[in-house]
Amino acid sequence: MQFQAPKGTSDILPESQDYWKTVIEKAFLTAKKFGYRYIETPIFEDSRIFERTVGEDTDIVEKEMYSFVDKGGENISLRPENTAGVCRAFIENGLYNKTLPARLFYYGPMFRYERPQSGRFRQFHQFGIECIGDSSHDNDFEVIKLAWNILDKLEIKNTELNINSLGDKEDREVYVSKLIDYFSKYINDLPKVDKLRFERAPLRLLDSKEKVTINISKDAPKTLDFISKDSKNHHDKIIENLENLRKTERNFKYKINDKLVRGLDYYNRTVFEYLSDSSGPQGVLLGGGRYDPLIKILGGPDTPAVGFAMGVERIVHEVSKQGSIKDDNLDIVIVVLKDEFRTNAESTSDLFRSNEISTIIAPRRSIKGQLRFANNMNAKLAVILGENEINNNSITIKFLNSGDSQLELQNEDILKIKSLLASEE
Ligand code: HAM
Repeated sequence: MQFQAPKGTSDILPESQDYWKTVIEKAFLTAKKFGYRYIETPIFEDSRIFERTVGEDTDIVEKEMYSFVDKGGENISLRPENTAGVCRAFIENGLYNKTLPARLFYYGPMFRYERPQSGRFRQFHQFGIECIGDSSHDNDFEVIKLAWNILDKLEIKNTELNINSLGDKEDREVYVSKLIDYFSKYINDLPKVDKLRFERAPLRLLDSKEKVTINISKDAPKTLDFISKDSKNHHDKIIENLENLRKTERNFKYKINDKLVRGLDYYNRTVFEYLSDSSGPQGVLLGGGRYDPLIKILGGPDTPAVGFAMGVERIVHEVSKQGSIKDDNLDIVIVVLKDEFRTNAESTSDLFRSNEISTIIAPRRSIKGQLRFANNMNAKLAVILGENEINNNSITIKFLNSGDSQLELQNEDILKIKSLLASEE
């Protein structure tokens, strides 16, 4: 019997690690530049944390959570997202007593029992940021701009920010009643899944992937026509800032998308997503919004907040599509001409490694076999260690890519070796 990775999961093989490393490094660096600090929360939490915040009528809580009763009888769920966990940690550790807003970022695996397809997995990774403790539109703009900086640093082209405002709770109640009035005229035309949505979560009808519903939604009432003056002002101020950003950043594009509602219940006012030109779920690179009610729902003090999370698999896919990141190849394989020189090879490899040069000593094979090994490993250079070299405290460098022949160097000539490695890239 041959085992396979569970459906909707995948191995991240060494070949893709350079992409992952670049994406994560750039995201971490950007967050730090904006004054955000790293936080890590457990991969599983009390299930009620998600039920209360993400929402019991959402797809995530209703059908996608990996939930179980543990040996102590606790109801546990693998985290489907990390905003709720970060807010739980914010309350539990009294972070509200420190200077606010708390600027936090995280990275790690999330779990949703979804129907796997391109860009949609059951175990996936999110990088996210949360700005907790300030209700100003300045913070909405800050997180939207931070997300843009990450995409821009990664040179992901053809992205567009979609933004909408859902208003506050009271606005939403008025809006949802208008939406119900509108869709009730078409109830018999709606497909079965959307009839259910109509009953349980009418807002999600705007998010439907069903053609009939998409058509009907075209003339549905718009959230922006029903939000309060305060919410509208909040939204307009963000748009003003986005206009300014568009003037300074040539590639930055945005549109107000009145159908954008997002699939989690905790949002109020701003919701946004960055989309790429890839189709289907793969194209939704990141999503977020303001979630002022969440911390109070979890039993903390009334604390406004805003944030986003990006799907790292989706970002890695976009970056690798462009092929702009080079593989971080192995630098050197040391070819040892006689077994008795292996101790010397050890000290030479230590010298290289302590100078950040990645090095493998070739396995005990014939010289030809060792050189073949160096080629197969895609090493940039082979370093030959024989009797001559050891007596002269030198090494012979064999160029594997450029076809140049050989060069003898003093063992300690690290700077020269580094410049040779750079020219072999
Ligand atoms: P979300 O829209 O559910 O929001 O997920 C954010 C991002 O995670 C998506 O835009 C997508 O890139 C990625 N993602 C979601 N599900 C999958 C999946 N099954 N496979 C691959 N990637 C996926 C949240 O999770 C909120 N917590 C975001 C947030 C933070 N809002 C405020 N702060």
